[in-house]
Amino acid sequence: MRAARVDALNTVPYVTDVPFHEDVAGTHRIKVLYAGLQPTDVLRVRGIYKNPPFPHIVGGEGVGLLPSGQRVYFGHSLPSSGAFCEETIVPVEEVWPIPDTADAGQVIALGLAGIGALIPLEEAHIKPGDRVLILGATGPVGQIGCMVARRLGAGTIVGGARDVARLEAMRAKGLIDEVVQLGQGDDEAALKAHAGEAGYNVVLDPLFGPPAEAAFRVSAEGVRFMSIGTRAARTMTLTLHELRRRSHIGVDTGIRSPEERQAAFDRLLAYAAEGGWHIDTLEFGLEDVPAAWEAQNGSPGAKIIIKVAQNG
Ligand SMILES: NC(=O)c1ccc[n+]([C@@H]2O[C@H](COP(=O)([O-])OP(=O)(O)OC[C@H]3O[C@@H](n4cnc5c(N)ncnc54)[C@H](OP(=O)(O)O)[C@@H]3O)[C@@H](O)[C@H]2O)c1
Repeated sequence: MRAARVDALNTVPYVTDVPFHEDVAGTHRIKVLYAGLQPTDVLRVRGIYKNPPFPHIVGGEGVGLLPSGQRVYFGHSLPSSGAFCEETIVPVEEVWPIPDTADAGQVIALGLAGIGALIPLEEAHIKPGDRVLILGATGPVGQIGCMVARRLGAGTIVGGARDVARLEAMRAKGLIDEVVQLGQGDDEAALKAHAGEAGYNVVLDPLFGPPAEAAFRVSAEGVRFMSIGTRAARTMTLTLHELRRRSHIGVDTGIRSPEERQAAFDRLLAYAAEGGWHIDTLEFGLEDVPAAWEAQNGSPGAKIIIKVAQNG
Protein backbone atom coordinates (compact mmCIF):
# COMPACT_ATOMS: atom_id res chain seq x y z
CA MET A 1 0.00 0.00 0.00
CA ARG A 2 1.02 3.66 -0.37
CA ALA A 3 2.22 5.34 2.82
CA ALA A 4 4.18 8.43 3.90
CA ARG A 5 7.13 7.11 5.84
CA VAL A 6 10.02 8.74 7.63
CA ASP A 7 13.21 6.72 7.89
CA ALA A 8 15.43 8.69 10.27
CA LEU A 9 15.63 11.65 12.64
CA ASN A 10 15.40 15.10 11.04
CA THR A 11 14.33 13.86 7.62
CA VAL A 12 11.19 14.58 5.63
CA PRO A 13 8.51 11.91 5.09
CA TYR A 14 8.21 10.52 1.57
CA VAL A 15 5.61 8.37 -0.11
CA THR A 16 6.52 4.78 -0.80
CA ASP A 17 5.05 1.28 -1.02
CA VAL A 18 4.92 -0.59 2.29
CA PRO A 19 3.41 -3.94 3.29
CA PHE A 20 -0.08 -3.98 4.80
CA HIS A 21 -0.08 -4.13 8.61
CA GLU A 22 -0.52 -7.51 10.20
CA ASP A 23 -3.54 -8.10 12.44
CA VAL A 24 -3.03 -7.21 16.10
CA ALA A 25 -5.45 -8.29 18.83
CA GLY A 26 -7.57 -5.44 20.22
CA THR A 27 -7.36 -3.28 17.11
CA HIS A 28 -9.66 -2.32 14.28
CA ARG A 29 -8.46 -2.34 10.68
CA ILE A 30 -9.34 0.96 9.02
CA LYS A 31 -9.31 2.12 5.40
CA VAL A 32 -8.00 5.67 5.77
CA LEU A 33 -9.92 8.39 3.94
CA TYR A 34 -8.30 11.52 5.43
CA ALA A 35 -5.53 11.99 7.99
CA GLY A 36 -4.54 14.99 10.13
CA LEU A 37 -1.04 16.44 10.52
CA GLN A 38 -0.12 17.59 14.04
CA PRO A 39 2.76 19.77 15.29
CA THR A 40 3.79 16.78 17.42
CA ASP A 41 4.25 14.65 14.26
CA VAL A 42 7.04 17.06 13.34
CA LEU A 43 8.48 17.05 16.87
CA ARG A 44 8.68 13.23 16.85
CA VAL A 45 10.90 13.36 13.78
CA ARG A 46 13.05 16.00 15.46
CA GLY A 47 13.57 13.60 18.36
CA ILE A 48 11.96 15.85 20.97
CA TYR A 49 8.62 14.10 21.44
CA LYS A 50 8.03 10.46 22.38
CA ASN A 51 11.04 9.10 20.44
CA PRO A 52 9.25 6.84 17.95
CA PRO A 53 11.06 3.94 16.32
CA PHE A 54 12.33 4.52 12.76
CA PRO A 55 11.20 3.95 10.12
CA HIS A 56 7.62 4.87 10.95
CA ILE A 57 4.52 5.92 9.07
CA VAL A 58 3.51 9.49 9.91
CA GLY A 59 0.28 10.57 11.55
CA GLY A 60 -1.83 9.71 14.58
CA GLU A 61 -5.40 10.59 13.60
CA GLY A 62 -7.83 10.54 10.75
CA VAL A 63 -11.21 9.55 9.39
CA GLY A 64 -11.71 6.19 7.73
CA LEU A 65 -13.92 3.20 7.14
CA LEU A 66 -14.25 0.06 9.23
CA PRO A 67 -14.59 -3.25 7.32
CA SER A 68 -18.37 -2.88 7.93
CA GLY A 69 -18.33 0.38 5.94
CA GLN A 70 -18.99 2.55 9.02
CA ARG A 71 -17.18 5.91 8.85
CA VAL A 72 -15.23 6.66 12.05
CA TYR A 73 -12.67 9.01 13.61
CA PHE A 74 -9.51 7.31 14.82
CA GLY A 75 -6.70 8.67 16.95
CA HIS A 76 -3.57 7.46 18.64
CA SER A 77 -2.74 4.89 15.96
CA LEU A 78 -0.33 2.17 17.04
CA PRO A 79 3.12 3.79 16.95
CA SER A 80 4.40 2.28 13.74
CA SER A 81 1.08 1.96 11.91
CA GLY A 82 0.44 5.70 11.49
CA ALA A 83 -2.35 7.44 9.63
CA PHE A 84 -0.76 8.59 6.35
CA CYS A 85 -1.33 5.19 4.72
CA GLU A 86 -4.11 3.49 2.84
CA GLU A 87 -4.92 1.12 5.68
CA THR A 88 -4.04 1.23 9.38
CA ILE A 89 -4.76 -0.59 12.61
CA VAL A 90 -5.95 1.26 15.70
CA PRO A 91 -6.79 0.16 19.25
CA VAL A 92 -10.57 -0.34 19.45
CA GLU A 93 -10.93 2.22 22.26
CA GLU A 94 -9.42 4.91 19.99
CA VAL A 95 -11.98 4.41 17.20
CA TRP A 96 -14.98 6.69 17.69
CA PRO A 97 -18.26 7.00 15.77
CA ILE A 98 -19.00 10.27 13.95
CA PRO A 99 -22.19 11.72 12.45
CA ASP A 100 -22.82 10.51 8.88
CA THR A 101 -22.90 14.00 7.44
CA ALA A 102 -19.95 15.52 9.34
CA ASP A 103 -17.16 16.94 7.17
CA ALA A 104 -14.02 14.80 7.58
CA GLY A 105 -11.64 17.77 7.85
CA GLN A 106 -13.76 19.42 10.53
CA VAL A 107 -14.01 16.15 12.46
CA ILE A 108 -10.23 15.70 12.38
CA ALA A 109 -9.68 19.28 13.55
CA LEU A 110 -11.91 18.56 16.55
CA GLY A 111 -9.78 15.51 17.44
CA LEU A 112 -6.31 16.12 18.84
CA ALA A 113 -6.49 19.92 18.39
CA GLY A 114 -10.06 20.26 19.65
CA ILE A 115 -9.53 18.12 22.73
CA GLY A 116 -6.32 20.06 23.37
CA ALA A 117 -8.40 23.25 23.54
CA LEU A 118 -11.52 21.95 25.32
CA ILE A 119 -10.05 20.09 28.29
CA PRO A 120 -7.81 22.92 29.55
CA LEU A 121 -10.52 25.55 29.08
CA GLU A 122 -13.07 23.44 30.94
CA GLU A 123 -10.54 22.89 33.72
CA ALA A 124 -9.94 26.66 33.89
CA HIS A 125 -13.57 27.04 35.07
CA ILE A 126 -14.37 30.17 33.08
CA LYS A 127 -16.73 32.48 34.99
CA PRO A 128 -19.19 34.95 33.43
CA GLY A 129 -17.35 38.17 32.65
CA ASP A 130 -13.89 36.57 32.60
CA ARG A 131 -11.38 38.12 30.23
CA VAL A 132 -9.93 35.15 28.34
CA LEU A 133 -6.72 35.38 26.31
CA ILE A 134 -6.14 32.81 23.58
CA LEU A 135 -2.50 32.79 22.46
CA GLY A 136 -1.62 31.27 19.07
CA ALA A 137 -5.24 32.10 18.25
CA THR A 138 -4.75 31.70 14.49
CA GLY A 139 -3.90 27.96 14.68
CA PRO A 140 -6.38 25.09 15.02
CA VAL A 141 -6.05 24.84 18.81
CA GLY A 142 -6.41 28.62 19.10
CA GLN A 143 -9.39 28.86 16.74
CA ILE A 144 -11.22 26.10 18.59
CA GLY A 145 -10.14 27.65 21.91
CA CYS A 146 -11.93 30.87 20.93
CA MET A 147 -15.13 29.00 20.06
CA VAL A 148 -14.97 26.93 23.24
CA ALA A 149 -14.33 30.00 25.41
CA ARG A 150 -17.43 31.66 23.92
CA ARG A 151 -19.47 28.48 24.50
CA LEU A 152 -18.29 28.31 28.12
CA GLY A 153 -19.44 31.86 28.81
CA ALA A 154 -16.29 34.00 28.60
CA GLY A 155 -16.90 37.74 28.95
CA THR A 156 -14.28 39.13 26.56
CA ILE A 157 -12.13 36.96 24.29
CA VAL A 158 -8.78 38.41 23.26
CA GLY A 159 -6.87 36.69 20.44
CA GLY A 160 -3.08 36.96 20.43
CA ALA A 161 -0.86 35.95 17.48
CA ARG A 162 1.63 37.44 15.03
CA ASP A 163 -0.55 37.36 11.91
CA VAL A 164 -2.78 40.39 12.36
CA ALA A 165 -4.71 39.86 9.11
CA ARG A 166 -5.82 36.41 10.30
CA LEU A 167 -6.75 37.84 13.71
CA GLU A 168 -8.80 40.63 12.13
CA ALA A 169 -10.62 38.05 10.00
CA MET A 170 -11.42 36.15 13.21
CA ARG A 171 -12.72 39.34 14.82
CA ALA A 172 -14.91 40.03 11.78
CA LYS A 173 -16.46 36.57 12.22
CA GLY A 174 -17.13 37.23 15.91
CA LEU A 175 -14.68 34.58 17.12
CA ILE A 176 -12.72 37.12 19.16
CA ASP A 177 -13.57 40.52 20.60
CA GLU A 178 -10.11 42.09 20.68
CA VAL A 179 -6.86 41.59 18.76
CA VAL A 180 -3.30 41.62 20.10
CA GLN A 181 -0.52 41.43 17.54
CA LEU A 182 2.48 39.59 18.98
CA GLY A 183 6.05 39.62 17.75
CA GLN A 184 6.33 43.37 17.23
CA GLY A 185 9.09 43.93 19.81
CA ASP A 186 7.19 44.39 23.09
CA ASP A 187 4.63 41.59 23.62
CA GLU A 188 4.06 42.64 27.23
CA ALA A 189 2.98 46.18 26.30
CA ALA A 190 0.81 44.86 23.45
CA LEU A 191 -0.90 42.35 25.76
CA LYS A 192 -1.27 44.84 28.62
CA ALA A 193 -3.13 47.25 26.34
CA HIS A 194 -5.97 44.66 26.11
CA ALA A 195 -5.74 43.19 29.60
CA GLY A 196 -8.44 45.38 31.14
CA GLU A 197 -8.01 46.80 34.64
CA ALA A 198 -7.40 43.52 36.45
CA GLY A 199 -5.59 41.49 33.76
CA TYR A 200 -6.50 38.24 32.01
CA ASN A 201 -8.46 35.77 34.15
CA VAL A 202 -7.86 32.74 31.93
CA VAL A 203 -5.14 32.12 29.34
CA LEU A 204 -4.95 29.25 26.83
CA ASP A 205 -1.28 29.01 25.90
CA PRO A 206 -0.08 26.80 23.01
CA LEU A 207 3.13 28.89 22.68
CA PHE A 208 5.12 28.94 25.95
CA GLY A 209 8.42 30.88 25.86
CA PRO A 210 8.60 34.71 25.65
CA PRO A 211 4.99 35.42 24.55
CA ALA A 212 3.65 33.28 27.42
CA GLU A 213 5.98 35.00 29.90
CA ALA A 214 4.67 38.37 28.72
CA ALA A 215 1.07 37.19 29.04
CA PHE A 216 1.69 35.83 32.52
CA ARG A 217 3.03 39.17 33.72
CA VAL A 218 -0.18 40.97 32.69
CA SER A 219 -2.56 38.31 34.00
CA ALA A 220 -4.96 38.90 36.86
CA GLU A 221 -4.42 37.63 40.37
CA GLY A 222 -6.11 34.23 40.42
CA VAL A 223 -5.40 33.62 36.72
CA ARG A 224 -5.76 30.06 35.46
CA PHE A 225 -2.93 29.95 32.92
CA MET A 226 -3.20 26.75 30.90
CA SER A 227 -0.10 25.83 28.86
CA ILE A 228 -0.57 23.10 26.28
CA GLY A 229 2.16 23.59 23.69
CA THR A 230 5.57 24.99 22.92
CA ARG A 231 5.18 26.56 19.47
CA ALA A 232 7.32 29.56 20.53
CA ALA A 233 9.86 27.93 22.89
CA ARG A 234 10.32 25.09 25.37
CA THR A 235 11.16 27.15 28.47
CA MET A 236 9.87 30.25 30.22
CA THR A 237 11.20 32.22 33.19
CA LEU A 238 9.07 33.68 35.96
CA THR A 239 9.94 35.07 39.35
CA LEU A 240 8.13 33.82 42.44
CA HIS A 241 6.72 37.32 42.80
CA GLU A 242 5.09 36.97 39.35
CA LEU A 243 3.79 33.49 40.18
CA ARG A 244 2.26 34.41 43.56
CA ARG A 245 -1.54 34.13 43.70
CA ARG A 246 -1.57 32.84 40.11
CA SER A 247 -1.92 29.26 38.82
CA HIS A 248 0.18 27.91 35.98
CA ILE A 249 -1.02 24.51 34.79
CA GLY A 250 0.62 22.34 32.14
CA VAL A 251 -1.91 20.09 30.40
CA ASP A 252 -1.24 16.93 28.38
CA THR A 253 -4.53 15.63 27.04
CA GLY A 254 -2.76 12.64 25.47
CA ILE A 255 -2.38 10.97 28.86
CA ARG A 256 -6.10 11.21 29.65
CA SER A 257 -8.08 7.97 29.35
CA PRO A 258 -9.68 7.11 25.99
CA GLU A 259 -13.11 7.41 27.68
CA GLU A 260 -12.37 10.96 28.87
CA ARG A 261 -11.03 12.00 25.45
CA GLN A 262 -13.94 10.42 23.59
CA ALA A 263 -16.45 12.19 25.84
CA ALA A 264 -14.64 15.50 25.19
CA PHE A 265 -14.70 14.79 21.43
CA ASP A 266 -18.46 14.09 21.58
CA ARG A 267 -19.05 17.39 23.40
CA LEU A 268 -17.04 19.18 20.70
CA LEU A 269 -19.07 17.54 17.92
CA ALA A 270 -22.26 18.68 19.63
CA TYR A 271 -20.98 22.26 20.19
CA ALA A 272 -19.76 22.45 16.59
CA ALA A 273 -23.14 21.30 15.22
CA GLU A 274 -25.08 23.69 17.51
CA GLY A 275 -22.82 26.66 16.88
CA GLY A 276 -22.09 26.10 13.17
CA TRP A 277 -18.36 26.07 13.94
CA HIS A 278 -15.87 26.15 11.10
CA ILE A 279 -12.15 25.58 11.61
CA ASP A 280 -9.80 26.59 8.78
CA THR A 281 -8.26 23.57 7.05
CA LEU A 282 -5.62 23.16 4.37
CA GLU A 283 -5.80 19.99 2.27
CA PHE A 284 -2.93 18.13 0.58
CA GLY A 285 -2.84 14.85 -1.34
CA LEU A 286 -0.81 11.94 0.04
CA GLU A 287 1.82 12.46 -2.66
CA ASP A 288 2.22 16.07 -1.46
CA VAL A 289 3.19 15.16 2.11
CA PRO A 290 6.61 16.91 1.82
CA ALA A 291 4.79 20.19 1.04
CA ALA A 292 2.36 19.62 3.92
CA TRP A 293 5.34 18.98 6.22
CA GLU A 294 6.94 22.24 5.16
CA ALA A 295 3.66 24.08 5.75
CA GLN A 296 3.35 22.62 9.26
CA ASN A 297 6.91 23.73 9.99
CA GLY A 298 5.78 27.29 9.30
CA SER A 299 2.53 28.78 10.48
CA PRO A 300 -0.29 27.38 8.33
CA GLY A 301 -3.11 29.05 10.28
CA ALA A 302 -5.16 25.93 9.64
CA LYS A 303 -5.46 22.25 10.43
CA ILE A 304 -3.56 20.35 7.76
CA ILE A 305 -5.56 17.48 6.29
CA ILE A 306 -4.09 14.78 4.04
CA LYS A 307 -6.46 13.16 1.52
CA VAL A 308 -5.33 9.56 1.57
CA ALA A 309 -7.98 7.61 -0.37
CA GLN A 310 -8.32 8.56 -4.02
CA ASN A 311 -12.13 8.31 -3.87
CA GLY A 312 -12.60 9.38 -0.25
N1 LIG B 1 -1.06 19.53 25.46
C1 LIG B 1 -1.95 18.92 24.69
O1 LIG B 1 -2.62 18.05 25.16
C2 LIG B 1 -2.08 19.35 23.25
C3 LIG B 1 -3.11 18.92 22.42
C4 LIG B 1 -3.18 19.42 21.12
C5 LIG B 1 -2.21 20.31 20.65
N2 LIG B 1 -1.20 20.67 21.49
C6 LIG B 1 -0.15 21.63 21.09
O2 LIG B 1 -0.73 22.90 20.93
C7 LIG B 1 0.09 23.68 20.08
C8 LIG B 1 -0.77 24.37 19.03
O3 LIG B 1 -1.27 23.44 18.11
P1 LIG B 1 -1.77 23.96 16.69
O4 LIG B 1 -2.18 22.77 15.91
O5 LIG B 1 -2.75 25.08 16.85
O6 LIG B 1 -0.37 24.51 16.12
P2 LIG B 1 0.07 25.48 14.93
O7 LIG B 1 -1.06 25.74 13.99
O8 LIG B 1 1.31 24.93 14.35
O9 LIG B 1 0.44 26.80 15.75
C9 LIG B 1 -0.51 27.61 16.40
C10 LIG B 1 -0.17 29.08 16.26
O10 LIG B 1 1.06 29.35 16.93
C11 LIG B 1 1.67 30.48 16.33
N3 LIG B 1 3.09 30.19 16.19
C12 LIG B 1 3.66 29.23 15.43
N4 LIG B 1 5.01 29.26 15.56
C13 LIG B 1 5.27 30.28 16.42
C14 LIG B 1 6.46 30.84 16.95
N5 LIG B 1 7.68 30.34 16.62
N6 LIG B 1 6.37 31.89 17.81
C15 LIG B 1 5.17 32.39 18.14
N7 LIG B 1 4.00 31.91 17.66
C16 LIG B 1 4.06 30.87 16.81
C17 LIG B 1 1.04 30.68 14.95
O11 LIG B 1 0.33 31.91 14.90
P3 LIG B 1 0.96 33.23 14.20
O12 LIG B 1 1.90 32.79 13.10
O13 LIG B 1 -0.23 33.99 13.72
O14 LIG B 1 1.66 33.88 15.34
C18 LIG B 1 0.05 29.52 14.83
O15 LIG B 1 -1.16 29.86 14.21
C19 LIG B 1 1.15 22.73 19.51
O16 LIG B 1 2.34 22.89 20.25
C20 LIG B 1 0.54 21.36 19.78
O17 LIG B 1 1.51 20.36 19.86
C21 LIG B 1 -1.13 20.20 22.76
